[in-house]
Amino acid sequence: RQFDLVVRGGTLATAAEVFEADIGVRDGRIAAIGLDLPAGTEEVSAKGMIVTPGGLDPHCHIEELSADGGVHEESFASGSAAALAGGTTAFICFLPQWKGHSLAASAPGYERRALQSRADYSFHQIITDPTPEVLEREVPALAARGVQSLKVFLTYDPLRLTDAEFLRVLATAKRLGLMVTVHCENFDAIGWRIEALLAAGQTDPIAHAWARPPVVEREATYRAIALAELVEQPIQVFHVSCEAAAAEIARAQARGVKVWGETCPQYLTLSHADLLKPDFEGAKFVCSPALREAGENERVWKRIQDGTLGVVSSDHCGFSFATAKRAPGAGGYGQGGATARADGTPAFNAIPNGVPGIETRLPVLFSEGVSKGRIDLPTFVRLSSANAASLFGLGGRKGTLAPGADADLVLWDPDAERTIHNGALHHAIDYTPWEGFAVKGWPSITIRRGEVAVRDGEVLAAPGSGRFLARG
Ligand code: URP
Ligand code: ZN
Ligand code: ZN
Ligand code: ZN
Repeated sequence: RQFDLVVRGGTLATAAEVFEADIGVRDGRIAAIGLDLPAGTEEVSAKGMIVTPGGLDPHCHIEELSADGGVHEESFASGSAAALAGGTTAFICFLPQWKGHSLAASAPGYERRALQSRADYSFHQIITDPTPEVLEREVPALAARGVQSLKVFLTYDPLRLTDAEFLRVLATAKRLGLMVTVHCENFDAIGWRIEALLAAGQTDPIAHAWARPPVVEREATYRAIALAELVEQPIQVFHVSCEAAAAEIARAQARGVKVWGETCPQYLTLSHADLLKPDFEGAKFVCSPALREAGENERVWKRIQDGTLGVVSSDHCGFSFATAKRAPGAGGYGQGGATARADGTPAFNAIPNGVPGIETRLPVLFSEGVSKGRIDLPTFVRLSSANAASLFGLGGRKGTLAPGADADLVLWDPDAERTIHNGALHHAIDYTPWEGFAVKGWPSITIRRGEVAVRDGEVLAAPGSGRFLARG
């Protein structure tokens, strides 16, 4: 039978190699890869383009509901449109748990909202309250439904686990064969710093970074690894922001511990200078771990180049600037009370943590990485999809160009020069931290399971056309 679609004449990039070939698609999957494939019902020319697997963003917060009523304003329909427009065909977001609640009673209706996604999606289950009921009954039931990874926080008032609780989660994951992802910062150290800074009258956004310097991330990274080592449970350290934390991961990897590291575009391109922007604009750059001194970006790149950090996620957060400005209240992602300043804007510790970036993740990584010569194309593919696919049980299906895999393809115009402006992005957030950022290389066509989902910035995939990915 004829191909439904042939993507013709592109330069293909996989996690391992770069070569010229056509891709034949049938029933949403790659059916053949080769030169001069016969005509398809639909033809897409990839002349002059680089064809990569669709991006897999394994860490993003979409429409998440926190126990205090805070909402990540991004909806599944808008967030997934943004994902696709930025070359990401699948993402993993989070099922919340509210402390004092079972998993079932937390964020009711959340999975129903996810049905509006245009991109394929899966979940990590957040554990904030690891009761026997949760660990012995609810987590196994979720795992059986294909939710095969857990997320824990070592900081944030409403989310963090004690070491004793973290150990119980690790042991459960080990028993069920799940992956555990960890937010590594020292809760008490940050609380102590916040108190001192507020007492000294420091309330500006930059004080967010002073409250959580690299050492609080390094300590918690080391501790998370040590506890995982004790239990013999693999972990993925989320959003590594600095060399000090990356070095702990590298040391553990060298002694054979199963620990992996992720970073995000914000830690590769942004710094204290952004937090220091006047008129409360610094609030747009409040994320945790915090942005570092300018020189740190290049050290994180080095840890990508030496293989310590194998995944670049967005950690997309849907907090609008206008909302953050009015707060105070950190939508669940804050610490140390909700302090308002004289003009009504929140003190640094009451600004919601996190930046939007699901659409800009891959263009920024392609431009700063591939176009600037810091990484080659196979490394780009590993960072943007392939490594996350193997870590999270989607290997062979996502993150690869091979017969049998889902036909998720991105056609990159490597010469396109663009300047990022929020007005042209598809998310529902009123700013991007990369406003005015120049990039070279742009995803001009995104194909999701054999359908053209985005062409030249126009999103064609309808809400609800994404599928839940049960993972094995
Ligand atoms: O600042 C961040 N990263 N907010 C989102 C929640 C998290 O810590 O991943
Ligand atoms: Zn986190
Ligand atoms: Zn996050
Ligand atoms: Zn602009």
